[in-house]
Amino acid sequence: QAASIPADRVPDMEKRKLMNLLLLGAIGLPSTGMLLPYTYFFVPPGSGGSGGGTAAKDALGNDIVVAEWLKTHGPGDRTLSQGLKGDPTYLVVENDRTLATYGINAVCTHLGCVVPWNKAENKFMCPCHGSQYNNQGKVVRGPAPLSLALAHADVDDGKVIFVPWTETDFRTGEAPWWS
Ligand code: FES
Repeated sequence: QAASIPADRVPDMEKRKLMNLLLLGAIGLPSTGMLLPYTYFFVPPGSGGSGGGTAAKDALGNDIVVAEWLKTHGPGDRTLSQGLKGDPTYLVVENDRTLATYGINAVCTHLGCVVPWNKAENKFMCPCHGSQYNNQGKVVRGPAPLSLALAHADVDDGKVIFVPWTETDFRTGEAPWWS
């Protein structure tokens, strides 16, 4: 099932690359000095944390301190926090009581409902049209076409910092569709 996705998406990826090339070509003629403002415009500095990361916030809007979080969130826990661009993002507690190094974006890839965690089923189950994702957010039932997006959940100064995930999706072995 997952194997059918990349084939469909390749043409789009190529199109996007082409568009990027055309865009670069259009602005590539001015001096490199003019390229810098362009770059900074599209890559704004992160709000707190380093390297474009964003501090994860709990339901009350407070920064999440890992040590505190793990006192109240046991093995297997998946609880929503506020992630990159304000997206609801699950923090995952591994079975060894450590915080997973990834967060799972809760926005359903079908039509954007926030997908609740169903502990009894060990899945994320979308109430809107029945899509299902395994406990790492990999899609296991449609109509959702893609797995839930990932973000790195780094720890900086004891706090959780979300950083954009641009590497291979470890669940599918494919390039991340969201970046
Ligand atoms: Fe989740 Fe449609 S929005 S299944």
